[in-house]
Amino acid sequence: MEINKNVEDDGVIFMSIKDKNEKEDEKNVAGGDGDVTILAIESSCDETAAAVVRNGREVLSNIISSQIALHTIYGGVVPEIASRKHVEKMNGCVRAALSEAGLTLDDIDAVAVTYGPGLVGALLVGVSEAKAISFATGKPLIGVHHIEGHISANFIENKELKPPFMCLVVSGGHSHLVVVKDYGEYEIVGQTRDDAAGEAFDKVARAIGLGYPGGPKIDAAAKKGNPEAFTFPQAKIADAEYDFSFSGLKSAVLNYINQAKMQGQELDPNDVAASFQKAVVEVLVGHAIRACKEYKINSLAIAGGVASNTALRELMEKECKAEGISFYKPSPVLCTDNAAMIGAAAYYEYKKGKKFGLDLNAVPNLPLGDRERRYHAGR
Ligand code: KG4
Ligand code: ZN
Repeated sequence: MEINKNVEDDGVIFMSIKDKNEKEDEKNVAGGDGDVTILAIESSCDETAAAVVRNGREVLSNIISSQIALHTIYGGVVPEIASRKHVEKMNGCVRAALSEAGLTLDDIDAVAVTYGPGLVGALLVGVSEAKAISFATGKPLIGVHHIEGHISANFIENKELKPPFMCLVVSGGHSHLVVVKDYGEYEIVGQTRDDAAGEAFDKVARAIGLGYPGGPKIDAAAKKGNPEAFTFPQAKIADAEYDFSFSGLKSAVLNYINQAKMQGQELDPNDVAASFQKAVVEVLVGHAIRACKEYKINSLAIAGGVASNTALRELMEKECKAEGISFYKPSPVLCTDNAAMIGAAAYYEYKKGKKFGLDLNAVPNLPLGDRERRYHAGR
């Protein structure tokens, strides 16, 4: 697998992922009845992204224009600013995705877009773009669930990965443990009762003065700290053993920091970051491995922004090895928001003949595994 990645001066990522044996692998995966090339669009939060994906697993182009620098001064994503920036960047990203792939709209079989969950104003920009392209070209429109996109990121670099498998989805808004029963079919085994894992990273990072975006900053600080310095609580939920709860852990860290301040003690932020990260990662890995054993599933994937966390990737790899479970993880650039993952998910919808009309709307709270009901209810 070969990832070609360039970061331009303005921070926009241009990339493609090529595999020498692509043709043979595609036949195995796709059933081999002709190439399907999808233009995919993602704008659910603070990344404007467009990609061209062939047969669900070959990334011809993947353009990501991140707004992180813009939101950093506010300490988090400002929805109104995000929407405006998406409007500014969207056409450029789509043009760049097509030109990087060496294609025009004529070569595209369908246009796919994230329509939920996410920030409504941000989602609407991508949805409007995709609908306009679909209307102008007559090509089919495919609405994609953002979390299904994250899960499908695993297909891009792991040609052999096929359902059923277990997937731990950990992002800024979600912490889900799901059985991927088939393409587009999910059984939720566990989910967060309060804060998502990424949200906990972001809040703790702010509290220890690392700022936004919290996850990558805690990841980096933890490398310089001692994970045994403090013992933070790891919540267990009595009646749902695979559910997560991170708000107690977050409060414990905040209390610890406040107490230390009042007593005039200096806490090493690197130690706090490392100890907090250890508590989160151990819960995530513990739940995922136990669920694999109980459901007798031998393949485990991780997805979402937090899946790029170094400690999570390392501990999951180690535990999967010890338990004889095959472990799959996307490259970090495919864990955080991107459109290639949306193109991967859309391919399997396209193969099933799913159709979305030009009345497709943004659904900010779209539940996982409930796409059609919500889409049709919204009509
Ligand atoms: O999937 P994503 O890009 O957007 C959502 O769909 O939410 O996830 C963003 C989340 C943020 O909370 C961010 O702090 C977290 O993923 N994140 C990380 C890391 N990189 C991003 N968390 C822990 N370690 C990281 N290296
Ligand atoms: Zn995401």
